[in-house]
Amino acid sequence: MMVPQLSLILDSLVLLSLTSASPTRGYSGLTFQHSFDASSGDLLQDKLISDDLKHDQGHEAMIALLDKYAPVLKLSIAEAYFPSSVEYMLPHFTYATVNGSKHYLNPNNLTLSNLDSLPRRGQDYFLSIPEPHNPQPFIEPSAEYLLGPAGQDGGMEDGGDGRGRVKEDIYGFWVDQGRGVVDLWYWTYYPYNFGKFAGPFGVIGNHVGDWEHIRMRTINGTAESVDYHAHSGGPTVSGTLRWKDVEKEDGRPVGYIAAGSHGIWPTPGNHELAPLLNYIKLVDICDDAGPIWDTKGSVIPFQYWNSHENRTKVNHEGKGHWMNFRGRYGNTGENNCWWYKLVGNCQLVDAPPGPNRWFGSPPICTIAPAVSGNSRYAFYLSERTARWAKRRHVANIQLEQVCRRPRRKEDEMEDEHSGAGSSRSSALERGGDDSDDVEVWTTTGTCKFRGQDRHEITTMACKGMQAAVKSYRLSFCLADGRCIFSTVQRDICAYVEDKEGYISSRAVDLEDLDEWFDMGK
Ligand SMILES: *[C@@H]1O[C@H](CO)[C@@H](O)[C@H](O)[C@H]1NC(C)=O
Ligand SMILES: *[C@@H]1O[C@H](CO)[C@@H](O)[C@H](O)[C@H]1NC(C)=O
Ligand SMILES: *[C@@H]1O[C@H](CO)[C@@H](O)[C@H](O)[C@H]1NC(C)=O
Ligand SMILES: *[C@@H]1O[C@H](CO)[C@@H](O)[C@H](O)[C@H]1NC(C)=O
Repeated sequence: MMVPQLSLILDSLVLLSLTSASPTRGYSGLTFQHSFDASSGDLLQDKLISDDLKHDQGHEAMIALLDKYAPVLKLSIAEAYFPSSVEYMLPHFTYATVNGSKHYLNPNNLTLSNLDSLPRRGQDYFLSIPEPHNPQPFIEPSAEYLLGPAGQDGGMEDGGDGRGRVKEDIYGFWVDQGRGVVDLWYWTYYPYNFGKFAGPFGVIGNHVGDWEHIRMRTINGTAESVDYHAHSGGPTVSGTLRWKDVEKEDGRPVGYIAAGSHGIWPTPGNHELAPLLNYIKLVDICDDAGPIWDTKGSVIPFQYWNSHENRTKVNHEGKGHWMNFRGRYGNTGENNCWWYKLVGNCQLVDAPPGPNRWFGSPPICTIAPAVSGNSRYAFYLSERTARWAKRRHVANIQLEQVCRRPRRKEDEMEDEHSGAGSSRSSALERGGDDSDDVEVWTTTGTCKFRGQDRHEITTMACKGMQAAVKSYRLSFCLADGRCIFSTVQRDICAYVEDKEGYISSRAVDLEDLDEWFDMGK
């Protein structure tokens, strides 16, 4: 009797950790503070500074780039909760919950022009609707506006091909990373996120207000890669795809939206989310049969930061100043269910933060051609990192290439001879450092510290059977050999030009266009 119940509880625990707006690294963008390390407080503080440039002026090329790659999004045939603009929802928020207490807003006075004039720009505010909003499984009639404009009777255009057409705003940020690299982050908004069925608990993971995104990297105006994100900020991202491997329509990326939870995937079909606790499988359902949401012409453009040198977020002025709002675009969750203590969430969970988060990081995976022979790494330091290092008399940069391979287990030696090495390659695909079945080591190389100039380091290939490059990181070292700081690792995806996807490679030729900055992200 206990066993199935426990597994259900575990199931919902996983569901919740995936669908709820639990704190993740995505949140750091809302604090505007990124310090290098605790002992160097003088350094790399990203402050909110004023944008000298008008929101809509002088950025034609960037706005055109956002439109050039505006994604074609395919909603599921099972979708009931459609996207909307932010304006569509604002009149429905009649109060806010702030640190657990209710603040009433005058009915209907919340607009794009006053959103960021709430105290402290709405920090700690959860904009809230008064109607019941916990569909089990259907929404109450009074809250049917949560289905979005296209979810209303007659609200969707017919495309003439048996599929509906959705036309809604999408919010686009451009992030100029320097050297011709511009990242484009497209954010979708939905009035409602419908959770997943979880046995006796009902539908779990529901929340008002849902933000999801897709991220593109362009180099000198041409697409390079796309990061699809199935659950914002969490561990279940669908990864970085080379542009060549991305499905395109009209030269723009296509994304498939999971029914209810709205994560964006590169392909239709059922996508298993991270296999957690070894046996729990969760699935995002996408298909190529539902309404089409072509966002061309509907991108609302935003500049992210003034320059990659400053790495300071823009204070939005002009029409887009509402983007300074720091609160949540939906209600708080509940905590009064009997299983709350056990799993930390009830059927209703908190709305996620807004889209104006932290976009300075490199893609999930840094892509690099596989090579034979030694690895070569070229990279840059940000202006502030270079300044920080110079002040501390850094003399050398040491590079660690992280290698991995499946760990050899005594009882598996036989398998290898019989040709059944599948447990090893699946261990490789899982890839975690902590995994018992993966062996991890490093090869190193050093070069002189060269400030903001290009650094180049060669290091030996990862040697051994099934060995592959996994990631790399840097250490900042003094003339006496002491290293005073090490960055985090950046994951590497190695490819062969004409082959789809990524391969295991012992060496790479990596030209890292993402400057190393702050915490080394
Ligand atoms: C909410 O609580 C936090 C932590 O106690 C506090 O720092 C913050 O100022 C509070 N916010 C408001 C708007 O009262
Ligand atoms: C709505 O109006 C009231 C009363 O004028 C005001 O106190 C409140 O700040 C307004 N809300 C917003 C978001 O401007
Ligand atoms: C982008 O173009 C500029 C000017 O031609 C060039 O210097 C730069 O190397 C290019 N960027 C990349 C990443 O290739
Ligand atoms: C960077 O910020 C400084 C002041 O903090 C300013 O003088 C400079 O113009 C900024 N650079 C760019 C490219 O925005």
